[in-house]
Amino acid sequence: MTWKQVFTSSVGKKLIMGFTGIFLILFLVVHAGLNACIWANDNGQMFNQGAHFMGGNVVPRILEIGLFVGLVLHIVQGLMLEVSNRSKRGVAYANSYKEGSKWYSRSMGILGTLVLLFLILHLSDFWLPNRAHQNFVLGEEINLYEKMKNTFSVLWVVIVYVLGCLSLGYHLAHGFQSAFKTIGVHNKKYNLMLTGIGYGFSIIITLAFVMMPISFYLGWL
Ligand code: HEM
Repeated sequence: MTWKQVFTSSVGKKLIMGFTGIFLILFLVVHAGLNACIWANDNGQMFNQGAHFMGGNVVPRILEIGLFVGLVLHIVQGLMLEVSNRSKRGVAYANSYKEGSKWYSRSMGILGTLVLLFLILHLSDFWLPNRAHQNFVLGEEINLYEKMKNTFSVLWVVIVYVLGCLSLGYHLAHGFQSAFKTIGVHNKKYNLMLTGIGYGFSIIITLAFVMMPISFYLGWL
């Protein structure tokens, strides 16, 4: 397969979706893990230290560039796959568009778009002001714990975050196993296990993220 075919053939597009999807899944594990430090009961100290490490060191900053490249590739190829699936039907990535397939597996495009809208709001809430402050104002990060406290004191924001995370959960419920199947991790024996791990992972990640805005809003933090 040539590089051009990687970006233009339907098999190449699915491979890009699989590899970038797995990379984004790894990011979610790190993101949820670091954010979970808000529950350390230390007024955000541990969380802010972790965020400072991620924001102030060269390796995480280089990974951040990789993250955004991966995100853009995943979104662009996902939209292109969705358009070609809708025009041809039949050429879908593992599992989708089959009769009787689950709703979320047929709705990767809609769910992915909802996650994208959530991401635009989310990045403009935290990442953008933080990097702007760091690079153009004082040379240091903002207190992200306090910023979360303020952001999640507004009910509509909490509701949008919860809906965004639920969309992500549904997107992951199909995307997790599909990504691994696309890169060749599947056989009859292990399919059931992969499905179970995919569902378990989606539920745990979604619950962790959903509980963050809710915990601030309800004053648990
Ligand atoms: C709902 C709970 C969430 C909270 C409280 C939260 C919090 C944050 C915070 C504070 C930052 C800023 C980090 C920094 O500037 O160093 C951030 C960045 C980011 N978040 Fe979230 N996040 C949540 C969920 C999500 C979800 C579900 C996704 C993905 C769909 C996501 C994707 C991102 C991305 C891509 C960045 C930029 C990463 C970077 O380059 O540092 N977040 N988040």
